[in-house]
Amino acid sequence: MEKLSVLINETKLQKRVNELAKQIMKDYKDKDIVFVCVLKGAVFFAVDLAKKIKNNVEFEFLEVASYEGKESTGNIKLNKDLKKSIKGKEVLIVEDIIDTGRTLNYLIGHLLLKKPASLSICTLLSKPSKRIIELDVNYVGFSINDEFVVGYGLDLDQRYRNLPYIGSIE
Ligand code: IMP
Ligand code: MG
Repeated sequence: MEKLSVLINETKLQKRVNELAKQIMKDYKDKDIVFVCVLKGAVFFAVDLAKKIKNNVEFEFLEVASYEGKESTGNIKLNKDLKKSIKGKEVLIVEDIIDTGRTLNYLIGHLLLKKPASLSICTLLSKPSKRIIELDVNYVGFSINDEFVVGYGLDLDQRYRNLPYIGSIE
């Protein structure tokens, strides 16, 4: 068993999710938004965020895989693509964490081909010191140091996703 310490507790998480929701509502005015939720890690965050937004929020999902254990393989695989067209829609990618930036860089390219009216990025966590590909990220919940985190959707080999807080593995 790994040793876990609490990095961001539930209260702080929910407070930040609230702030992000307010910012998104301000930016999108009364437009409909399509959340493209990146499976599986972003599910918890995307659901909480959507519940705090008054706009119409449509949910679409895609799944990518690049990690084995605590290492990014850099080899991105699209396991599941969108089912519906996002052409002409206001699309917000909702992600759990940006590490090297390779996954999102790949996803942006993939989604732009589908011709949305706009494409923005909202991530709960970001590890700026690990970035290999620079990205314009519209909404960032928390910037964290280079440490491996789990909980609130984030996993280590599929474990710990259901923790209500973000924990750091020691
Ligand atoms: P990137 O392509 O290197 O930016 O990696 C992004 C993906 O790696 C995220 O969507 C996560 O699934 C996973 N990941 C990166 N860092 C962590 C972490 O600290 N904990 C759990 N998953 C992580
Ligand atoms: Mg992910």
